[in-house]
Amino acid sequence: MNFKIALLAGDGIGPEVINEAVKVSDAIAKKFNHNIEWKSALVGAAAIDAVGDPYPNETHDVCLASDAILFGAIGHPRFDEDPLAKVRPEQGLLRMRKKLGLFANVRPTFTFPSLLNKSPLKKERIQGTDLVFLRELTGGIYFGERGRKDNGNTAFDTCTYNRDEIKRIAVKGFELAMKRKKKLCCVDKANVLESSRLWRETFQEMEKDYPDVKVSYEFVDAVAMRLVQWPNSYDVLVTENLFGDILTDEASVISGSMGLMPSASVGLENSLYEPIHGSFPEAAGIGIANPLATILSAAMMFEMSFGLHNEGANIREAVNKSLIEGKVTKDLTEKGEKFFSTSEVGDYLIELIR
Ligand code: IPM
Ligand code: MN
Repeated sequence: MNFKIALLAGDGIGPEVINEAVKVSDAIAKKFNHNIEWKSALVGAAAIDAVGDPYPNETHDVCLASDAILFGAIGHPRFDEDPLAKVRPEQGLLRMRKKLGLFANVRPTFTFPSLLNKSPLKKERIQGTDLVFLRELTGGIYFGERGRKDNGNTAFDTCTYNRDEIKRIAVKGFELAMKRKKKLCCVDKANVLESSRLWRETFQEMEKDYPDVKVSYEFVDAVAMRLVQWPNSYDVLVTENLFGDILTDEASVISGSMGLMPSASVGLENSLYEPIHGSFPEAAGIGIANPLATILSAAMMFEMSFGLHNEGANIREAVNKSLIEGKVTKDLTEKGEKFFSTSEVGDYLIELIR
């Protein structure tokens, strides 16, 4: 097969981890006789510096013309420290999600048997954890009306959802649950929020179309607690944008390092794949970033966008092997233990794939 993939490296450690994902993807393509045409484009602080816009039109065009998008990370402290900054890298990410219609953010959380002792949680609690969050990504409080009033002394953000927006992410959730353990948790705050009550109502109406799926309705605060108590009791969790943002960061610590978890954002046009970690500017350029989350995101791309399951499985196998053998970056070692650089980990995976 021939693919065109848009490559949006972004900021901080983005370019380094993307580089390794490209190396690994090319090795897989070579092995399985595919041809990947990569097309790089600017996004985030890098794009602000170059053209004054965190998601330039040219980048959007590159994304639209591609079969899938591989994304690094976005964000720079120089903007975080300035509450009055007019343009921010994150605006680029949000605009990109909206313009590409990336409404369903798929964020798996799983454990690697070889890394169980790296998790801050007790081994017996996290063993066997294999869950997936479906986070709604183009609605809710992230995109609702916001502003200031009373001469700037009052601020507001609004959370709005309509039935269609809820339904299309719910469909993804039910379909995914059907392919997995047939368990779905609708995460909301229906005891307080009207938007959550519409979520719950919509899911309840849809239950009859998926009689094999066992649906639970849980409040987000309770899920936040149960997630670290009994993570292996969950299968598919569907939730709105902000709840999903918070819970998926929480869930990422279960696996032992934020540098391990991949994600996919399924869109109306095409889909985007990215690590769930941020741009980690302190680590940029010194070869300590863990490339595995981005490499596993590339595995999701082969599987979800191209239906190439052997290719994806081959990447996962190589990743598992490298972890078992301790060919890992600094975040996965104890003080004083030997670690490998970002590119050494990528090189080792390529060796395994060949
Ligand atoms: C994420 C990030 C983004 C979000 C930020 C960078 C805007 O935290 O992808 O989870 O809040 O969605
Ligand atoms: Mn987040």
